[in-house]
Amino acid sequence: MWLLNLPVVLWRRLLLLGQGIGAALVLAGDAVAALLRGSGPVGARLAALFAAPAGQRRVFAVLRLVQPNLRFGRVLVTAYANSGTAIVTRRDDVIDILSRDDEFGVVYGPRMKTITDGENFFLGMQDTPRYTRDVSNMRLVVRREDVPEVVAPFVAREARGRVAAAGGRLDVPQALTLPVAAGLLDRYFGTPGPSQAAMVEWTTTLFWYLFLDLQADPALDARAKAAAAAFREWLGAHIAARKASGEARDDVLGRCLALQASGTPGMDDRAIRDNLIGLLIGELPTTSAAAILALDELLDRPAALAGAQAAARSGDDAALAAHVFEALRFRPLNPVIYRRAMCETTVAPGTLRARRIPEGTMVFAANLSAMFDPLAVPRPGRFRTDRPWDTYMLWGHGLHLCFGAHLNRATLPGLLEPLLARPSLRRAEGARGRIDTQGTPFPVHLDVVFEA
Ligand code: HEM
Repeated sequence: MWLLNLPVVLWRRLLLLGQGIGAALVLAGDAVAALLRGSGPVGARLAALFAAPAGQRRVFAVLRLVQPNLRFGRVLVTAYANSGTAIVTRRDDVIDILSRDDEFGVVYGPRMKTITDGENFFLGMQDTPRYTRDVSNMRLVVRREDVPEVVAPFVAREARGRVAAAGGRLDVPQALTLPVAAGLLDRYFGTPGPSQAAMVEWTTTLFWYLFLDLQADPALDARAKAAAAAFREWLGAHIAARKASGEARDDVLGRCLALQASGTPGMDDRAIRDNLIGLLIGELPTTSAAAILALDELLDRPAALAGAQAAARSGDDAALAAHVFEALRFRPLNPVIYRRAMCETTVAPGTLRARRIPEGTMVFAANLSAMFDPLAVPRPGRFRTDRPWDTYMLWGHGLHLCFGAHLNRATLPGLLEPLLARPSLRRAEGARGRIDTQGTPFPVHLDVVFEA
């Protein structure tokens, strides 16, 4: 049997080699072009090259070939304590890191505690009884059957109405993805916030602070602390008001209060507040941003866009979803997931690529790279809509796999479906037709035009 597998193994190794060498040549060419043609500081021009999704994919292709488990003493992340950095790029090793919870722990605890003014949230917890208690309580109130019964119909209705009202031109984050994701906070979670603008500002700033502020920017620190204080105050008062009203609503907050009334441990007012803060930070900016990234990627790929549009028009939900998630494979919201080594250990033990990892090392498990590893993913550079679902590592893996994973599979295609169904969908002219983040890590504007 192993003899029969030999040609496949050799072919995959050849692909790894070809991909790595090809990527190195393109990167070198792009770097020379950026140096000769661009304007502004050289470092910034090169950084922009490598920060772009295609540049990241090429860097990972080179690393998978020459140094699949790279480790260096330099500390890249200053927001969370660590003693050095490692980047893990092969799919098997990325999965391994995200499965060895007793050796590679989550780091977010300190900032979670700053946000709640004391308590951790389950994404910041190691695999402990407290983690199981909190995540189980939240699974009792955010139920899988809500996706087809409540969430998907809400998203479909809202998205349809917003696209129909747009009159042929739409600023997609402002007029579609952010308001619909914020609408879910009201309709489904029962936590509308004082205004949509406040919810967007609080959740976006706090997501940025927790996951993207790797250099611990003091200005963002102040902004995040102010957002967290306002969020806590509003949500605490909202929970108290709901309880005082005696109203029994079947939304996530209402179910939390029902659990509290039944004496379920870990569900006092403050715990409900802290759990909801964590969930809402996870829900709003991510849902909007991921939908925009998928759309942006499709707009750059005429054949894939045509396929997605045909699926949207014919109501083929599975085909539409396949296009959206394949687009996200090229542009995942999180290209890496980070963990800290809780003891001295080894990545890929017993292999030629084995690498010792000292205690305290910050390990970037590159899920983007894992989704392009030719040793595990057939024809990774091709846009294909027939990939098995387990190809996709769009929202983590293992213990801390995204709590909203089932929601995402419905909300992302659902948000985009009515827009993709429109004839002549294209970018608006000039800069308005490109993602504008307004200095944040999230899409704030992207205008498209279509036949109304
Ligand atoms: C497309 C949108 C989303 C993306 C790209 C995304 C991404 C992720 C990723 C990468 C992780 C793993 C983090 C890690 O292991 O360090 C994660 C975990 C998590 N996400 Fe999401 N997420 C999305 C939507 C949501 C939604 C809608 C919710 C809330 C309903 C949510 C709540 C959470 C929570 C609570 C965790 C922690 C799970 C745990 O620790 O067990 N996310 N997400």
